Parts: sequence; C-alpha cells; structure tokens
Amino acid sequence: MFKAWRARSAVGLVVATLALVASPATADVSLQPPGWDKDLRLAEAPDLNPDPHIVEINIEARVAPVELEPGKRVDAWTYNGGIPGPLVRVQVGDRLIVHFSNHLPMETTIHWHGLRVPIQMDGVPEVSQPPVPTGGTFTYDFVVPDAGLFWYHPHVMSAAQVGFGLYGALLVEDPADPVKVPDQTVLVLSDIGIDDHGALESPDSGGSTGMAFGREGNLVLVNGRVRPRIEARAGAPQRWRIVNAAKSRYFGIDLDGELITRIGGDGGFTEYPVESDTLVLAPGERADVIVVPRRAPGREIIVRTIPYNRGYGSVEFRSADDLLVIALAATPAYAGPPVPALLGARRTIEPISTAGATSVNIDFTIAQLGNGTFVYGVNGVPFATHHSIAAKPGETQVWTIVNKTKWSHPFHLHGFFFQVIDEKGQPVRPLEWKDTVNVPFEQTVRVVVQYDDRQGNWMFHCHILDHADGGLMGMLDLGVPHVDHSEHAR
Ligand code: C2O
Ligand code: CU
Repeated sequence: MFKAWRARSAVGLVVATLALVASPATADVSLQPPGWDKDLRLAEAPDLNPDPHIVEINIEARVAPVELEPGKRVDAWTYNGGIPGPLVRVQVGDRLIVHFSNHLPMETTIHWHGLRVPIQMDGVPEVSQPPVPTGGTFTYDFVVPDAGLFWYHPHVMSAAQVGFGLYGALLVEDPADPVKVPDQTVLVLSDIGIDDHGALESPDSGGSTGMAFGREGNLVLVNGRVRPRIEARAGAPQRWRIVNAAKSRYFGIDLDGELITRIGGDGGFTEYPVESDTLVLAPGERADVIVVPRRAPGREIIVRTIPYNRGYGSVEFRSADDLLVIALAATPAYAGPPVPALLGARRTIEPISTAGATSVNIDFTIAQLGNGTFVYGVNGVPFATHHSIAAKPGETQVWTIVNKTKWSHPFHLHGFFFQVIDEKGQPVRPLEWKDTVNVPFEQTVRVVVQYDDRQGNWMFHCHILDHADGGLMGMLDLGVPHVDHSEHAR
C-alpha cells in the first residue's frame, strides 16, 4: 500500500485502490472531521507587518477573567486576555517583533524559552533588560533561527506569574517540513491553583515545604481548558505539538492503550521516531508526536496524565487526571497510507565532539535551615548567580549535573541547545537538541554544549519554578565579566 501511494504521488497517477483514492494524504487535505480541533484552537496575535518575513505583534500582559470550564471563571494573569497567551506563529528565519506592554500590578519581562536569541532579548531582568514596570513597554525584536515548538513566559517572580497564567506557545514552522501529516494542533499543558473562593491560590501556599516540593495547581488545563474534546477520525494521523508550561507539574501522558510516536523534542526533530504508550514531559520540555487512534469509529479515548515519580510526595495518594477526550466519529476508519509512510521525520544530527571539552561539575543541593525552612542551591550555594560558570565563545563544555536532592529537577539552560550524553560520553539516542532535561532525584545527567559567539550572562535553573525561586539557579558567563543579579532573576 505504501508503495502504491508513493508511486501515485511521484507520477501523479490515480491508483485504482479505493481506500487510497478516497483519502489523498497530502500535507494540506485534512483527514479529520470538519472543526475537529475547535476546542483546542488558540488565539493568534494578528501580524501587523506586511513584509512576509517579518511578524510584528502586540502582546499585553493584563489581569482578565478567563473561563476554565463552563461556569468556572477566574481573574487570571494573561497575555492578551487568554490562558494560554496567543500562539505566535512564525517561519524559520523570520524576524519577530513583539510590542510588549505591562498592565499587571507587578513588574515583569518575557523570556523566549529555547530560542537562540541575543542576550538583550532573553528577558532576564537587570541582565538582559530592565524589568518592565506596571504601565511600561518593551520591544522584543529578533530573528528566529530554528524550527520547532518554543514558548514564552515571564522571568520575574516566575513561579507566581507563570502559575497565574502567563505563558504561550511559539511555533516556528519550516516551509520544507518533511512530515506530511495534514492535521496538526498545538497543546499547551499547564495547571492553575484555584482556592475555595474561586480566586487564584496564593503563590506561597504551603510555605517552604510547598516550595521544596514544587506547587502544582489543582486544575489541569489543555490550552487553558479543563478536559477539552477532539473530534477525530479513527485511523487518521494527528500531529500534536506539545509544551509543558506548568510551573511544577510533570505530565505523564497516557493514551488509554493507544500509541504515541515521538518525532521531535525541544529543538525540532529527533534523529528518528520512537513509539511508546506514555510520554513524560517535565516542565519546560516540548514534544512533537503523531497519534493514530486505532479504536473503532464511535468510541472515545480518554487521554490522561498519570502520576510521574518526581520524588517524595509525587505519587503517593495520587491518581490520574484527565487531559482531553478524543471522540472518534462514526464514519469509516481512514485506511490510507500507514503512518510510517507519512513520516519524513529523520534528521541527521552530528554528535557534538567531547574531545577537548572542558568539564563543569554542578550539584543540585537542598538544605534545611535552623528555622526549618528549605533552600535549594547549586553546589550548596542558594541563588548561585552569585557565582558563575565561565566560558569562551566557541568553547565546548561537558556538564555533569548531580542531583543530590530527593526531588527531580528539569535543568534548563538559556540561549543554547545541548545534547545529552551517557557516562561514557556517548550520545543518548535518538539524538536531539534540548534546552531542558529532567535530572531525576539522586541521579546524574551529563550534557555537552558548544557555545557560539552570543556573549552574555546566560541563566540556568530548575524549571520547577518554585525551585528556581527557592535558590536552584546559576549563571553562565560567556565571554563577559560576571554580573550578580540574584535579587532579580526570579
Ligand atoms: Cu523557561 Cu529561565 O526559563
Ligand atoms: Cu527543581
């Protein structure tokens, strides 16, 4: 069947195999019922610039009422009035200009997570830019160098501000994308804490113990909604671009017995697709996946997040939460080319050579102070932006990250992609470009990174934002003197 389909698309012949003719698998003809992902559609900010290679948008941070499920409204912190903020859609190589204005009752910035931007555009207060005060504005303006799904969020009081609703997805499309799956949707996974009075939960609930664990909201959201629905066709592939934008929660995505094929991660495609029945995403991570529901037409698939063991308190007395429902239409299943035939997702990624690399050793630590409060630290130093790791443009470094705590920590480096290697220095396959990697509790993860010439003070931190705010952060000084901004980076 695959061969016939290839032959047909290659020479333009109509092959008289009914199933094939009925469902041409080209990149733009939908295989799904009309409006299949309408529950999930994200608002997009209108592009104000007529130049096809410049996307120019307005983003306004403001408090606004949002409806999380029918009848459940909360005054949240939003970009352009919604949770999540608008989907920013650009093509690789485009220039993105964002006119940002802050109408929140607190200063803020925008950090472009995973994008290789100049340091002036990185959104870290005092290092990249002054924080944007209430009533203030800032223009972000940079070229988007890599295809993939990225995201944006504040870098001031991050746990509070992200927890209140400030995050959005940034999809960098590649006009030459080889994956011919016509039906694609972006899933922004998050959670939000709502108290008994229907207001946002205090960001310091549970005190320093709440910080030590990493506070999770009590409502799980997909594109800002509780348990949205997809109306799908059995047998037809769907491509999901997923980001975990929660401030602390890991998602263990389970498809009720269906399979997930992962074709990409933080920085675009992986070397080759991998099929599995669950997909774990730590805060900050992304995945590009294909899902082909095998269940009979008319049935439903409940997509859940199952508790992932990220350390003490994360699996005890916990149950799964529903993420979304895939309702299969009562029409005959799609019987076109099988999924592997639709995937062009192979990518050659050269392993970064570790020969001549310098070694960096960091430990993630936690200490309980005399008064009973917890502080996180890097090498025992809370807010290790006091200290820093020095590097030169062009240098390659191998970072050995030892997690000495009882909780897992997603390590995130600003500004650069890295590759994960094993204890022998060999690449972990399939190779991929990452900016965020989970360091499981009491384990060690090694990454190799090669810097370019974008000099500056680049942050690294745990992407459980309560942990970052609790001291788990540090600084990489690339070709420039050190700046101590431990009071602001949170
Ligand atoms: Cu998405 Cu410094 O973080
Ligand atoms: Cu952490």
